[in-house]
Amino acid sequence: MTPLTIDADKFFRDEAEGGILTRTRLDGDLGARFRGALDEVAARRESGEMGFFSLPGDREAVRRIAAVAESFGQWFEALVVVGIGGSSLGAKAIADALLGPFWNEHSNAEREHFPRLYFLENVDPDTVKALLRRLDPRRTLFNVVSKSGSTAETMAQYLVLEGVLRQVLDPDRVPGHFLFTTDPERGALRSLARDRGIPTLDVPPNVGGRFSVLSPVGLLPAAVVGVDIAALLDGAGEMQERCRAPDLAENPAGLFATLLHAAHGEEGRSIHVFMPYADRLRTLGLWFQQLWAESLGKARDRDGNEVHTGPTPIAALGAVDQHSLLQLLMEGPDDKVVCFLRVVGREDPVEIPASHSGIPELAYLGGHTLEVLLETERRATADALFRAGRPSMTLSVERLDARTMGELFMFFQIATVLAGALYGVDPLDQPGVELGKVLTYGMLGREGYGEDLT
Ligand code: PA5
Repeated sequence: MTPLTIDADKFFRDEAEGGILTRTRLDGDLGARFRGALDEVAARRESGEMGFFSLPGDREAVRRIAAVAESFGQWFEALVVVGIGGSSLGAKAIADALLGPFWNEHSNAEREHFPRLYFLENVDPDTVKALLRRLDPRRTLFNVVSKSGSTAETMAQYLVLEGVLRQVLDPDRVPGHFLFTTDPERGALRSLARDRGIPTLDVPPNVGGRFSVLSPVGLLPAAVVGVDIAALLDGAGEMQERCRAPDLAENPAGLFATLLHAAHGEEGRSIHVFMPYADRLRTLGLWFQQLWAESLGKARDRDGNEVHTGPTPIAALGAVDQHSLLQLLMEGPDDKVVCFLRVVGREDPVEIPASHSGIPELAYLGGHTLEVLLETERRATADALFRAGRPSMTLSVERLDARTMGELFMFFQIATVLAGALYGVDPLDQPGVELGKVLTYGMLGREGYGEDLT
């Protein structure tokens, strides 16, 4: 299988054309900067801080998760993943990519063997009510996912769902409709699981929310709906090996992180647009947006200096957002880099019939395929941006399968921690979201938080 590639031809510009970021710098200062970041990440990885690196090697976890998924999958008609942020986006990205469009509406025999899959993320009452109207709670498993085991939205969803189950089941059967995924020791979910005998999967303590897609957080829902989770981890493991390379040109995550960081630092390109040309990768874009934003947007650097740094990621979708964002990308402030993602091989091409040869607006399309149209639009967009002096790069994957998704997840996670080292910040923490949480607790009357309202 051809692994993920990065084409950065439209990122670099020659010195003669006024380029600051030239390709020759890969072997010079950019390469040296990258190796410093690689060493820092290697040291933190070895000290055990970056647990996501160990996940692809944990084959015992795969067996455990597959067994749990199989036993639950047989009993329930639907699986609802209840979680938010890093506790849901990865699993949702897997489902969107690998189950295909409209996955919960499939009626083909293949998918009928698997429970339907839903996600409850937001505490928007309209969504919660609509989902409950659709489901038979007596035939539904709720996988409550929270690393901390205390996130207000997820805990509230749990309380609502438990209340609903109590109305239709004997109280002693309610715990059997829950599966928790949480920290092995800490948090309210863990205590509840112990008290009520609720089955639980562990998120390793050194794996943070947005880096947890390859832990039971992403793997359990994937396994329940029939995704090959061993292949996901194989792809991730292969990418991890590639990203050990000290040569910048050979290290995909290093190249991505170093170029985006340099574009920000040297050319003021602080907005990083991620634009897959595949509907099935739209949620991957949202997952990446969270990873890049929450990991790199920081008030202080690792030495404690006030820096208020970080890029602004934007999750876009080609070709749809050519009709929404492209005008701004072409002619608005020159402060962006666009990262395209292309799926090279598509199964089952869709031919555009050459049926209207007399109408010029339709005739030129006839005889091509939708795949060719989509890719031509991507190329044309990259060309147009380049002519306007705006850089882009293109990531390509051969096909969309579990292995490729594993590769992509690991690629972006490694790129993020490398970018953290380049920006000089800690990509693993998120101190900025704490104050809002504390104020919410205070406003809702949580014990011990009242004084923070002043
Ligand atoms: O990446 C993160 O740490 C966050 O986005 C969390 O995933 C999110 O806040 C949910 O937290 P938890 O899993 O503790 O409920």
